[in-house]
Amino acid sequence: MAKAFSIPFVAFFGRNYQEYLAMFSLDESSLRGRSILDCPSGPDSFVADGTQQGLDVIGCDPMYAMSLEQLLKSGKGHIDECFAQIEQTPGNFDIRDMEKFRRDKYDALESFSKDYLSGKGTRYIDASLPNLPFGDRSFDLVLSSHFLFCYSSVENGGMMQGNMFDLDFHLTAITELARVTRHELRMAPTHSMQAPPRRHPYLEASVKHLESLGFAVTIEPSVYDDGFAPFVEVLVGRR
Ligand SMILES: C[S@@+](CC[C@H](N)C(=O)[O-])C[C@H]1O[C@@H](n2cnc3c(N)ncnc32)[C@H](O)[C@@H]1O
Repeated sequence: MAKAFSIPFVAFFGRNYQEYLAMFSLDESSLRGRSILDCPSGPDSFVADGTQQGLDVIGCDPMYAMSLEQLLKSGKGHIDECFAQIEQTPGNFDIRDMEKFRRDKYDALESFSKDYLSGKGTRYIDASLPNLPFGDRSFDLVLSSHFLFCYSSVENGGMMQGNMFDLDFHLTAITELARVTRHELRMAPTHSMQAPPRRHPYLEASVKHLESLGFAVTIEPSVYDDGFAPFVEVLVGRR
């Protein structure tokens, strides 16, 4: 059995715009005219590149309390630490093109960092789950990736050393994401972060919870294969 991939912190590690569209199974035209929240957005470039493309998108993340210099230092450091861990725990991530995967993270960090100062406080908001500074049903579409599910403890399908993001935390955070959603909430990935590939152990309870909040939930195919096929999926909750 592969040695578990684990880290002691939530990485400031982000995907680029094309990865976001693929991961959430979205095309750009379907996003036009919708207000969108990316939570957490970390150093992904969805906010920066989406804004360039004319989308109405806001990102939030607790790291936005920091200066650009600190964010760049964390971003580069965390990418390097994550890839070092991936190399030390072979067999966990079955990523076909590791060099492209790494390059995409650096590209995202670069686009994010060029946009950050002009959007700080307007499209980059310092906020953390489970308490967001937005009104009820503020966003047509809410996207949430690579925080919930991924940072549950290793024993609970995630990659975090420690259990600070347990099932109770997840359900409370999902309640908050649902509160700020007007129409649609998408969450990815749905798989556990450990080999062999399987659905995340919190997924079923999370789906039931969202249903209890009035959402119709489906698990839909995605094309963003980050090494956990066949569980290449996105959770879609619609009011
Ligand atoms: C791996 S990044 C994900 C970024 C982006 N969603 C993506 O998929 O590329 C995880 C982010 O979660 C943020 N984070 C940590 N604690 C959080 C909390 N309590 N609420 C919201 N975000 C949090 C971190 O600062 C980090 O930027």
